[in-house]
Amino acid sequence: MASIVALFLGWVLLFTQSGSGNALSLNYYEKTCPDVETVVTEAVKKAMAKDKTVPAALLRMHFHDCFIRGCDASVLLNSKGNNKAEKDGPPNLSLHAFYVIDNAKKEVEALCPGIVSCADILALAARDAVVLSGGPTWNVPKGRKDGRTSKASETKQLPAPTFNISQLQQSFSQRGLSMDDLVALSGGHTLGFSHCSSFKNRLHNFNATHDIDPTLHPSFAASLRNICPKNNNAKNAGATMDPSSTTFDNTYFKLILQGKSLFSSDQALLTTPKTKQLVSKFASSKDTFSKAFANSMIKMSSITGGQEVRKDCRVVN
Ligand code: HEM
Ligand SMILES: *[C@@H]1O[C@H](CO)[C@@H](O)[C@H](O)[C@H]1NC(C)=O
Ligand SMILES: *[C@@H]1O[C@H](CO)[C@@H](O)[C@H](O)[C@H]1NC(C)=O
Ligand SMILES: *[C@@H]1O[C@H](CO)[C@@H](O)[C@H](O)[C@H]1NC(C)=O
Repeated sequence: MASIVALFLGWVLLFTQSGSGNALSLNYYEKTCPDVETVVTEAVKKAMAKDKTVPAALLRMHFHDCFIRGCDASVLLNSKGNNKAEKDGPPNLSLHAFYVIDNAKKEVEALCPGIVSCADILALAARDAVVLSGGPTWNVPKGRKDGRTSKASETKQLPAPTFNISQLQQSFSQRGLSMDDLVALSGGHTLGFSHCSSFKNRLHNFNATHDIDPTLHPSFAASLRNICPKNNNAKNAGATMDPSSTTFDNTYFKLILQGKSLFSSDQALLTTPKTKQLVSKFASSKDTFSKAFANSMIKMSSITGGQEVRKDCRVVN
């Protein structure tokens, strides 16, 4: 009973938080584009078969989209004239695979022109990326609209890998997301790769008393310092988020407990009793993590913000 009430309240919250009030629903395209989900899934599958880094890229792209102006496909717009778009803003390292969304959109337009937003296609692709990597599935509420604005300067609003727990909490709560969501969604770091610049702060001149972040496991820190020396590491140098970086599992949480996660923001999840307890819970059960991740993804991907259904995901109508 309690869980039914909680579920109901969750849904109420979900739909009242939506930025500009586009009502999302599970059957949004049932009459107008019934095959959209199959088409998107096939596009993701096809891209993945050629490039194993595609799922991580799609998941991160959706997260960045939702954290700036809501999930309105602002991350997909190209810079134009004097306007530098989000994708050309500073923390764009490893944002890639935009072509996967372009291909999916092209096929969806051929089937049902002018109906499906780029923001919905990205939300579906992110879900598919997780499923096809061995993670949980969930039903994606649809009906997002695409925005008309994308500014590189607004990428400053994204959380940084150097953030401590209070900064992370603030960043998430500003978007209606809780500490539980923070821990679950950080589990997205079970996939993908990071460049040295994102975690170098922990390896050299960490703070006044420690050259290396003492919360890093010593041998792990040594191997990272090898990859990312103090002065000019190789251009694309970095490390995978976890040894199973193309499999969506709960290894990330086990690594945090061992001092083997990459970012200060990952390690920060151990610095409050509540978040530490969640990390331990997710480390000991993939199933518990999977359920929590799916719930929090629905919450994050329901922050809406746009006005139109773009014809081309890279330019406004
Ligand atoms: C909690 C705050 C977060 C911070 C501070 C953060 C920061 C970062 C940073 C710095 C990178 C590496 C960029 C690079 O050096 O190439 C990264 C990668 C990644 N992040 Fe996050 N992130 C956060 C939350 C999330 C969330 C909520 C998700 C998705 C649910 C996510 C998914 C990913 C993925 C999949 C990658 C790998 C991308 C790739 O390999 O192409 N992150 N993140
Ligand atoms: C990232 O931004 C820089 C400029 O800040 C730009 O030159 C580069 O093309 C961008 N990378 C991607 C993948 O969009
Ligand atoms: C987190 O960092 C901010 C900004 O540097 C600082 O004001 C705050 O006290 C820090 N919080 C914790 C818990 O360390
Ligand atoms: C440096 O960081 C460590 C680990 O977080 C901490 O225990 C120590 O107090 C910090 N030192 C200074 C001077 O901030």
